[in-house]
Amino acid sequence: MKGIVLAGGTGSRLFPLTKITNKHLLPIFDKPMIYYPILTLVEAGIQDLLIVTGGRNSGDFLRLLANGKEFGLKHINYTYQEGEGGIAEALALAEHFAESSKICVVLGDNIIEGSIAEAVREFQSQDRGAKILLKEVQDAERFGVAEIKGDRIVGIEEKPAKPKSNYAVTGIYMYDNTVFDKTRTLKPSARGELEITDVNNAYIEEGTMTFNYLEGWWTDAGTFDSLLRAANLVHETKRKREPPTGSALARDAAGVEE
Ligand code: DAU
Repeated sequence: MKGIVLAGGTGSRLFPLTKITNKHLLPIFDKPMIYYPILTLVEAGIQDLLIVTGGRNSGDFLRLLANGKEFGLKHINYTYQEGEGGIAEALALAEHFAESSKICVVLGDNIIEGSIAEAVREFQSQDRGAKILLKEVQDAERFGVAEIKGDRIVGIEEKPAKPKSNYAVTGIYMYDNTVFDKTRTLKPSARGELEITDVNNAYIEEGTMTFNYLEGWWTDAGTFDSLLRAANLVHETKRKREPPTGSALARDAAGVEE
């Protein structure tokens, strides 16, 4: 399976932080934002990556990520989205890279605590179609929201005023190669973008969409609140995994008696 990180768009909700740099280069605690979706893919065993970026600072991605050596990769592919016509427009640019492979797409501002390795393995053996990952949230109206009946997902609404469930569609999507036929049929939404939710609904109508519930915390980082939340979550998780030397937590972890 090939991996795609979508890091285009203007990051206008984070202005003026994004006035002179790209949103995905901003820090989330101790790493630039784009490191997290890349690590999510690499940890799941995906080695062949494409970064879709855009805007005036796109050259900085090459300076930052270079050939991917820091992530144990031999090579990283890059492409450029002109304008900010939506997530599905950015995805459509990956057609040439994907060739006939299945793909796993991660939005450049989505950060998770856990692993997607199991879901990726399941999708490898899924005949055709797509898989999405859902997460229960308190503020579903900010996201694509899944309507679930029994063990089936029957539809997704993008940022509904009255969400039909508390299950947000996270920005981690797995698709077969027909995704590019689907992106070609899309029409811009009311916000003037080609919506990934329309792509997912096409798979739902076709009856080939599966889903898993994502374990561990998940957040986006595209607003001031979620940017701060993401940094705090990463910080807390890191402290739990590697408590600072000399702290009570570190002494506990090392089994040192007080
Ligand atoms: O975070 C999950 C949510 O992401 C989903 O629940 C929604 O269904 C989905 O539409 C999306 O919602 P947002 O409105 O929060 O997406 P946003 O415009 O912030 O874009 C998310 C990422 O997608 C962004 O960090 C980079 C990439 N992107 C976005 C646009 C609009 C592109 O690469 N190109 C684009 O033109």
